[in-house]
Amino acid sequence: MRIVMIGSGYVGLVSGACFADFGHDVICVDKDADKIAKLKAGGIPIYEPGLDELVAKNAAAGRLSFTTDLAGPVAGADVVFIGVGTPSRRGDGHADLSYVYGAAREIAEALDGFTVIVTKSTVPVGTGDEVERIIRETNPAAEFAVASNPEFLREGAAIEDFKHPDRIVIGIEDERARAPMEEVYRPLYLNKAPLLFTRRRTSELIKYAANAFLAMKITFINEIADLCEKVGADVQEVSRGIGTDNRIGAKFLHAGPGYGGSCFPKDTLALMKTAQDHDSPLRLIEATVAVNDQRKRAMARKVFAAMGGSIRGRTVAVLGLTFKPNTDDMRDAPSISIIQALQDAGATIRAYDPEGMEAARPLLKDVHYAESAYDAAEGAHAAVIVTEWDAFRALDLPRLKTVMAEPVLVDLRNVYPSKKVEAEGFRYVSVGRPSDEDIAREAGFGAPRRAA
Ligand SMILES: NC(=O)c1ccc[n+]([C@@H]2O[C@H](COP(=O)([O-])OP(=O)(O)OC[C@H]3O[C@@H](n4cnc5c(N)ncnc54)[C@H](O)[C@@H]3O)[C@@H](O)[C@H]2O)c1
Repeated sequence: MRIVMIGSGYVGLVSGACFADFGHDVICVDKDADKIAKLKAGGIPIYEPGLDELVAKNAAAGRLSFTTDLAGPVAGADVVFIGVGTPSRRGDGHADLSYVYGAAREIAEALDGFTVIVTKSTVPVGTGDEVERIIRETNPAAEFAVASNPEFLREGAAIEDFKHPDRIVIGIEDERARAPMEEVYRPLYLNKAPLLFTRRRTSELIKYAANAFLAMKITFINEIADLCEKVGADVQEVSRGIGTDNRIGAKFLHAGPGYGGSCFPKDTLALMKTAQDHDSPLRLIEATVAVNDQRKRAMARKVFAAMGGSIRGRTVAVLGLTFKPNTDDMRDAPSISIIQALQDAGATIRAYDPEGMEAARPLLKDVHYAESAYDAAEGAHAAVIVTEWDAFRALDLPRLKTVMAEPVLVDLRNVYPSKKVEAEGFRYVSVGRPSDEDIAREAGFGAPRRAA
């Protein structure tokens, strides 16, 4: 198949490289000339494990190329994917569809012969209808079908997810789109990845419903974690206790600083807006969004408390900036709100992230960007693990203690066993795992355990 991918970001580049690896001819298009120049020169504009090798291999085999010119490749394509960004629209939280519609107009002008146009971007219900209308209006003679094929990959494990998906969702209104889409995914279909054909609007909604559900699951365990701290229970054991139930499932039950990233925040908001517009509000999602919004600054308050209440003029080492490990993506990362809240309270920030510092610099001012976790901790009155990079899972705790001004470790990802850190002489605070001291205090305040 001759495939064109419009938009060569996290989704477009990974999908394009994987389609090429399946044996298709793929041209990745982007408006960002620097991005394309870098790709042409053999560089990778983002950090995603394994992507450099996959791109290099397929480019060398002549199956994958890059261009800023949309028209030529689209004219020769069987299938054109739209993988451009759909960020939150400023002011109201609806998805900003200007990039999608802009791409649709450009595609329309270039179409030559029957072509399937596919929205891979996450788009609100009805966007496919509008894309179809725009193309028909721009080029009434065009022969085309518009399909929806939302992407479920996770940054940090994107290639694995793309090549071994739980399912592939394809929404069509025109039967002519079915065979080309089956052909695009044939290599995965043979591996038994279920191809789920639906109507187009259903497919669009599946993506939002999936992300909203996962965001809700994370938020649920985060609230349970808060309760654990109050009642003297351990959230990791609660997660295990409920997650082993097949009806619930173990994934997305890790308590932490609240969800962030390029998808959940904007997608929950966009779904909420769609639902309100259709007079069918999603109260659970509204609550999820509100609870998660408050959580990030609440994490900063956790740091204040661990440091004895006052942080003015003191230094905090922040370990991990990206919204999750194995990516350089800083979009809506919880670290941003946490650092801002710490700075608002007068703290000096020293931060380290293995891959995210370049993207963080324009977003987080007045931060000292360190060379390593130990460099960040130099002279700090507390260290805070915000992202669970492997590099922070096995810190040399005695070394950390030596460089810090005070041995306080706030672990917002629960990567350490409390006793181990405390045994090294740290004051250790994590999420939803009260210390023995806290538990004893709670028990003391509670009703008498047994009659005297
Ligand atoms: N990042 C993820 O993990 C993920 C996962 C699933 C779905 N999605 C969805 O995929 C879509 C893309 O996300 P992303 O993270 O890859 O975004 P991104 O910002 O990394 O990439 C989008 C790219 O599109 C380019 N672009 C915009 N308009 C263009 C045009 N008219 N022609 C050519 N290029 C154009 C931009 O320059 C940019 O490079 C979004 O809708 C997102 O919600 C993202």
